[in-house]
Amino acid sequence: MNEKIEDITDDTRKPYSAAVNTGQYIKKTGLTGKYDNVRRFWEDEVTRLCIRPFLKKIVDRKAQRLERLRILDVGCGGGDGYDLLMGITAKDVGIYEYAVDLINPEQLGFYRGIDINPDLIEQAREQHSLNSKVVFECGDCFDSSFTNSKPFDVYFTSYGTISHFTADQTAALISDIAEHSENDAILIIDWLGRYSYEWQDLWSADRKEQFMDYRISYIYPPDERDKADIQSFPLRLTCREGATSIIKEARRLSGVDIKVKKYFDRSIFVGRHIDTAEYNRNCTPLREAVNSLLEPNLRTDLNTLIVDYVPREGFRELNRFFDKFSSSWNTLVNHTIDFLAKFGNDTKSTECGSDIYHFYPEPLRQAVQTMEKVIRSTGGLPGDSRANIIEPQLAYALRKLEMELQTGDGVGHGLVGVFEIKK
Ligand SMILES: C[S@@+](CC[C@H](N)C(=O)[O-])C[C@H]1O[C@@H](n2cnc3c(N)ncnc32)[C@H](O)[C@@H]1O
Repeated sequence: MNEKIEDITDDTRKPYSAAVNTGQYIKKTGLTGKYDNVRRFWEDEVTRLCIRPFLKKIVDRKAQRLERLRILDVGCGGGDGYDLLMGITAKDVGIYEYAVDLINPEQLGFYRGIDINPDLIEQAREQHSLNSKVVFECGDCFDSSFTNSKPFDVYFTSYGTISHFTADQTAALISDIAEHSENDAILIIDWLGRYSYEWQDLWSADRKEQFMDYRISYIYPPDERDKADIQSFPLRLTCREGATSIIKEARRLSGVDIKVKKYFDRSIFVGRHIDTAEYNRNCTPLREAVNSLLEPNLRTDLNTLIVDYVPREGFRELNRFFDKFSSSWNTLVNHTIDFLAKFGNDTKSTECGSDIYHFYPEPLRQAVQTMEKVIRSTGGLPGDSRANIIEPQLAYALRKLEMELQTGDGVGHGLVGVFEIKK
């Protein structure tokens, strides 16, 4: 009898255990981990929105020529770049429309990822094993094996990959790409920003090439960080000026015109190390707070979003930028707290008050008005509209401030450059 039960139990247990071992049964949370809410709804989205116009141009041109798109992802890691690019929508959609992907699967001709790490390549292959147009290979991008294949339309890098390389190596790589590509190809280069507030201790007025000892300590809970054996590795810190001089050198090496189309800063106050305060003890865990804003059914103490920017002597321009940016950020948070107190339980008023914010920068004015509208119109709705409507909206409003008040000078965790090859 017992044996039978054991058999049955075993038969029942095995399929579930197999499912657990795939990792798919891990309780998902957006509060921590590689794919936390900030990564998915802020960082991936900011990248998508900023590169969309350049990608759209190339997608439209390929469609007109009845050709399909070829993408090379350099330092592709576990293959996340594929999902990032394929998740770009064709345009901002109204509330009655469906979102359409910019690159539809038939339009993609070939996606090739190269990474030097075999474990990550294995992971990328597992993720995309059913898609025969997607190929991941293990190799050093400096071996330039990609130059033996047909040119690509998009040469893509993401999340700091190019910070592994020196300025000379990067210029040589971009020069190889420029020679390999055809006219109008685009190149997306992703570095760590040199003047992120997270690592204010490392800011240097010296214009020399600078690397930081980067620690992926944020994957550990705060109380385990000190005890964990965390190795560091060098990553290059880059600002607009440094990036532009690399491009200039790549132009010289290749003899090809490489046009700078855009620089953008990503994660000015929500980079991974804002929470560890390892490279600036004045940082408070703002990423944790924004993750909480974006988490369903969870209310956030909005006071934890307030930034107390501590200037660093000798960096007048940077202090001016961060002072202004943190003031706008805090003003939006404080207005939201006030609106909640004023209109949070109001089921009647839906009309917005008069425009009293005309001294604010335009993006802040719009963001404050949006929060007022949302709070006035959701007061009294059933369910937890504070956690599920108002707080996510505040995260998007803060994201809007980052996108529209930034300079693209290397003041965020990431600095992304978009370049066009002209032949
Ligand atoms: C910060 S990770 C980014 C990974 C990926 N792009 C993403 O968005 O998740 C940097 C990646 O660059 C890869 N890498 C570093 N040096 C490389 C090289 N010489 N050739 C190819 N890949 C390299 C690393 O193995 C790592 O996967």
